[in-house]
Amino acid sequence: MYHTFSIRLARRDELRAIQHIENTADLMFRRIAMPWVLAMQPAALRALEQARRRGWLWVATGAANRALGFALLTTVGGEAYLHQLSVLPQAAGRGVGSALIATVCDAARAAGHRTVLLSTYTGVPWNAPYYARRGFAAIPLGDYTRALRDVRATERRLGHPVWRRVLMRRTLRDDA
Ligand SMILES: CC(C)(COP(=O)(O)OP(=O)(O)OC[C@H]1O[C@@H](n2cnc3c(N)ncnc32)[C@H](O)[C@@H]1OP(=O)(O)O)[C@@H](O)C(=O)NCCC(=O)NCCS
Repeated sequence: MYHTFSIRLARRDELRAIQHIENTADLMFRRIAMPWVLAMQPAALRALEQARRRGWLWVATGAANRALGFALLTTVGGEAYLHQLSVLPQAAGRGVGSALIATVCDAARAAGHRTVLLSTYTGVPWNAPYYARRGFAAIPLGDYTRALRDVRATERRLGHPVWRRVLMRRTLRDDA
């Protein structure tokens, strides 16, 4: 059980642990009969390291400074893009994910971005509805730019049923 946690930038020697967190967090999808998610590769080491060097890869840590969750921020079409957010099941439900989202939004704003994008599953309680409660709104299909259509094409190639996916955007206020 993790009662307290902190957030800091990831270290280079934590990238494999971060991949492990992503795979382990995805076990949640087993409960709702979405087993294809479990078969997907986690974020590549190269992408993790690129984000880490930019200061856009954070871990939440618990006891002994060990990572129990992470957030990976990249860009899509020039917009900040929350590429992955994962928290170990044994640490879930304690606000770790929410704190990581707040950190991502702060960093995006500090880098001059006005919005944060993400892509997630509709109808999964800890995906689109979770983000909607944290200020993200679904982008209507008709408003997809070329960059957003490319995100969907990539997801289709990776094996996601894209009709169950939704791109969401949060507008960053100056104070939030
Ligand atoms: C999404 C995720 C990062 C949330 O992390 P977390 O630290 O548990 O998040 P918080 O403690 O801030 O909030 C927990 C939320 O998840 C919801 N939740 C957690 N487990 C749930 C479950 N089994 N069923 C339904 N909702 C669940 C809670 O209702 C709560 O939402 P609310 O506060 O809006 O009601 C985590 O569940 C996870 O890693 N999931 C697997 C990977 C994933 O789907 N990532 C996001 C998609 S890109």
